[in-house]
Amino acid sequence: MHAVTYITRHRRWPARLGWGGEGLYSRFRWHRERSLPLVRRVLLVHPRLPEAFDGLTVAQVSDVHAGQFMTPDRLEKVRALVCRLAPDMIVFTGDQLDRRPVDAELFVQAFAGLSAPLGVYGILGNHDYLAGRELAVAALEAAGITPLVNEAALVQRRGASLLLAGVDDLDAPRPFGPDFSVLQTDNGFFKLLLCHQPRLWPEAIRHGADLTLSGHTHGGQISPIGERFSVARLATRFVAGAYVSGSHLLYVSRGVGVGAVPLRVGTLPEVDLITLHRGQPAASL
Ligand SMILES: [Fe+2]
Repeated sequence: MHAVTYITRHRRWPARLGWGGEGLYSRFRWHRERSLPLVRRVLLVHPRLPEAFDGLTVAQVSDVHAGQFMTPDRLEKVRALVCRLAPDMIVFTGDQLDRRPVDAELFVQAFAGLSAPLGVYGILGNHDYLAGRELAVAALEAAGITPLVNEAALVQRRGASLLLAGVDDLDAPRPFGPDFSVLQTDNGFFKLLLCHQPRLWPEAIRHGADLTLSGHTHGGQISPIGERFSVARLATRFVAGAYVSGSHLLYVSRGVGVGAVPLRVGTLPEVDLITLHRGQPAASL
């Protein structure tokens, strides 16, 4: 398995500061949520990907947190950014809503009618439950996004299929919660899983997920000395970026919004454009 990530859009002035200045800028600039998310282009290579899906592009939009810190104009800019990427498929990997019921309205107004040739799908995150499970699912549906909450869909391209599944959030109150049996299938499909919290990746692997897309961590959100040393590390070692385990891949988005406090330090908001390729196992990261 092979994974490469790089950012394609920088603001201009930090580059003029030189390497050291840019590093300081990136680590210590406060309240950067006012800026647009970056586009992080991610290349993931997996030998089991059907040839028909070689080159598939997936825009991952995670942790939007529509709410008091994610205003309508910023949401509109995120939507425009996603549209410009023109991906084959769009996935929302949880925390679409920050916490208030009214946040559902913000989300729907911003993303209603968003489309992609192979569909737009979404799962729930822990913050969606703060606004309410039913409301959060209804918000996805009202925006025209197919909810995959312990559900799976067959995505077809050029005569081949892959299994796209989504699980409920780990912190959902019982009787809700993640049900990995949605990955069960006897027909050898490539399995792409949407799972909000990356610490469930070992469970996803046990159930055969070839590629798992997660969010939740916000890249640590406040990581003044690097993502590896953020508080998110207390909950999971999968904080941001791509991870490889045997024949399984995980990608953890740093997400668009913020939770709890309107502050990011050392980790930029991002929308991810993931390109999938079929290929032989290559060097790990
Ligand atoms: Fe979040």
